[in-house]
Amino acid sequence: MIDEHTAAGTMSGKQVAEICSTIDASCHDAREIRCEKGRRWRRGPDVGSTRCYKQLHRLGKGSFGLVVKAQHRDTGQIVALKTIHARDGARRPDVGELLREACFMVACHGHPFLVGLHGVARNPDTKEYCLVMNYVGPTLHETVDRRMERHGHAFPEADVRRVMRQLLIGARAMHERRIIHRDIKPKNILIGDDDGVKICDYGVAMFTAKAELPFAQAGTPSYMAPEVLLEKPEYDERVDLWSLGCVMAELLSGQVLFERDDKMDQLRKIFDTLGVPGKRTWQGFKSTLLVQEVQQWRAQQQEAPHHDRLRELFPEEVLSKDGFHVLKGLLRCNPSKRLTAATALRSSWFKDDAINTPEADKIGGTVLARETVVSLRWVLISAWARFRQVMLSIGASALLRHKALPQSVAL
Ligand SMILES: Nc1ncnc2c1ncn2[C@@H]1O[C@H](COP(=O)(O)OP(=O)(O)OP(=O)(O)O)[C@@H](O)[C@H]1O
Ligand SMILES: [Mg+2]
Repeated sequence: MIDEHTAAGTMSGKQVAEICSTIDASCHDAREIRCEKGRRWRRGPDVGSTRCYKQLHRLGKGSFGLVVKAQHRDTGQIVALKTIHARDGARRPDVGELLREACFMVACHGHPFLVGLHGVARNPDTKEYCLVMNYVGPTLHETVDRRMERHGHAFPEADVRRVMRQLLIGARAMHERRIIHRDIKPKNILIGDDDGVKICDYGVAMFTAKAELPFAQAGTPSYMAPEVLLEKPEYDERVDLWSLGCVMAELLSGQVLFERDDKMDQLRKIFDTLGVPGKRTWQGFKSTLLVQEVQQWRAQQQEAPHHDRLRELFPEEVLSKDGFHVLKGLLRCNPSKRLTAATALRSSWFKDDAINTPEADKIGGTVLARETVVSLRWVLISAWARFRQVMLSIGASALLRHKALPQSVAL
């Protein structure tokens, strides 16, 4: 819906403000961080103002935007404010992009392993909007780097298992909501005070129920699944599982598993480590890239069988049999054979961890998961109903052609 608006250039300031206030209302705690002073909208929508926050320092500058740590002037609450840059020569950033990201966060709101959103705020001077998020902490990337510097080695298996369990629970929650993140990597994973991890940055996420073919190639090459690198027109949530496999390897070794500047080189590195995909897997990619090279490699492998280089990189002293089963299952070139988040979580590697981390187990438990889905559905239905009402009230009924709510808001 938001995509349609921005593509058509039809989103007015008032509409944006209305959507922002719907987003705010859907974030349970939005009310707590509202600023009493500096309200811009006397009547109608109430969008938070960035003047309510004292900016502390810069947290990160990504390819899409700038994130700063800030403190709410009235409540003292520490948050992270994300502003996105203008792109493709545009004078102003595309507010639709920001709202789209906010909608994904609303859909996953309240999950312990996904970054929470407080709402959307507007800078009254620049007129730019920003996401107001929970401040979490350093990224996994920084944490791995620091550990390598201090100790000269990465994380032991028990720590990796605990982190992977949380990440898989987070991914499972996104996938249950039909959201593919598409850019899971250590720089998009944050570590909280309690050592719990949270996935952030829905900048290139997609909602599968509304996606049109061909799907775009999105993400960061070093963490991109082979089907994405090979420009397969259709892929599913298992691209996130591949990325999680790369993250797991990095946690164990302290190094990026498949890092090449060029995407074709990236594929060569993957096939060199895991073996060239068989004929059936290759046909499934529907790709014309690297065809001749793959044929040559396959012929070579028939003469001299390929060794499992993955096990050479992660021997039993580093990763147990059960752990390796998960790593290998995540790094399957054939997406239909790759583990899903739900199947990975059922693996015996996580059995002991469930006993040691009762909270995580409770979160992953079926009863709670079902309750979360039911309450989320309710939040989305109410958000959609409010959005529809607002659109009708401002005469934008033509934009509401999708009458049926497809189990979720049309993002
Ligand atoms: N909620 C948060 N709490 C603390 N730090 C954060 C938070 N959100 C983002 N950051 C920091 O800001 C950086 C950039 O944020 P984000 O990934 O959302 O932006 P981006 O522009 O989409 O980045 P990229 O294109 O590099 O992936 C993160 O890598 C992290 O260091
Ligand atoms: Mg990022």
